[in-house]
Amino acid sequence: MYAWRNPWLRRSVLSLVAISAVTVLVGFVWLPSQHADFSAKGIWDSICRAAGVPNQWGPATTPPKASAGTTNVVLTRDMAKSGAGDAVGRGATIAVQQCSMCHGAQGMSEANAPNLAGQYPEVVIKQLHDYKRGDRVSAIMQNLAQKLTDKDIADIAAYYDSLPKARAAIVQAGEADAPVLVRVGDPMRNIVPCLSCHGGIDHKIGAPWLEGMPKEYLLKEMRAFASGARRNDSFGQMRNMVRPMTPEEIDSVAEFYARREPAVAGR
Ligand code: HEC
Ligand code: HEC
Repeated sequence: MYAWRNPWLRRSVLSLVAISAVTVLVGFVWLPSQHADFSAKGIWDSICRAAGVPNQWGPATTPPKASAGTTNVVLTRDMAKSGAGDAVGRGATIAVQQCSMCHGAQGMSEANAPNLAGQYPEVVIKQLHDYKRGDRVSAIMQNLAQKLTDKDIADIAAYYDSLPKARAAIVQAGEADAPVLVRVGDPMRNIVPCLSCHGGIDHKIGAPWLEGMPKEYLLKEMRAFASGARRNDSFGQMRNMVRPMTPEEIDSVAEFYARREPAVAGR
């Protein structure tokens, strides 16, 4: 080739090649190797990683832990039945000794722990198993739940089911001044009315009794669902409801459910 004999051209082509090679080495090998999590073994590994190729193909060699941080409890109708035989008495003995200092002598919390009186048995069972497996995070409750057997848990649930609830249910379409989100939700934001899972219009198995709960507790749980700190709701039901809500809306529904007495009609 005649052109190749031209020393200027030859020099500029060679330096272009050299510069490209250096750039590739710096960008794909040296820079990634300075990264804290650099673990690639060879030059091809580094180049692939820098180009965004996953460093593992197909299924991971180690299967994910059974507990992926959500729930493992499958709710059944059986859990929702009241305990039989000596369940209530046995449950009462455990509860009085280990639980009443926070959840109250009659399951009505004086502090900001949740009330357990009249809570649906399947809710108490599910939540205690979630704490036990670490799927719902609370240092104190995880510690206590780990010491409970399956029978202890079922009996405790039967005992609390036998106690009177904090207040009467919100019936049918709700109390006259119930917030819109409680009664009708917001279809535009995929918010289903609280009443269609938590009782009123319908009760979905596993949805807790909320009426009369301490407001601070309701706020804390809704914020935890919104931020993803609490992830033990099956199918993300609560996380999906709460995420689109504004802080003011969360406050107003918590305020409403925390009421101890139904509002006077027509107020
Ligand atoms: C030192 C205080 C304390 C003691 C003792 C305690 N709890 Fe709790 N419990 C709490 C708090 C606080 C929460 C809310 C934690 C959270 O945010 O997850 C809670 C949550 C729960 C829940 C979830 C309720 C719901 O509506 O989701 C259940 C069920 C429960 N406790 C049962 C028990 C049982 C059964 C015992 C006795 C074996 C017990 N607790 C003892 C403080 C306590
Ligand atoms: C699609 C059904 C569904 C709708 C709609 C729904 N929830 Fe829930 N909610 C649940 C379920 C199920 C749980 C229990 C999650 C679990 O297993 O931990 C729950 C849990 C909660 C808790 C935690 C209570 C506790 O004691 O642990 C609060 C607070 C709550 N919901 C408030 C609301 C409010 C307020 C609304 C309306 C804005 C609402 N939810 C709408 C299904 C629903």
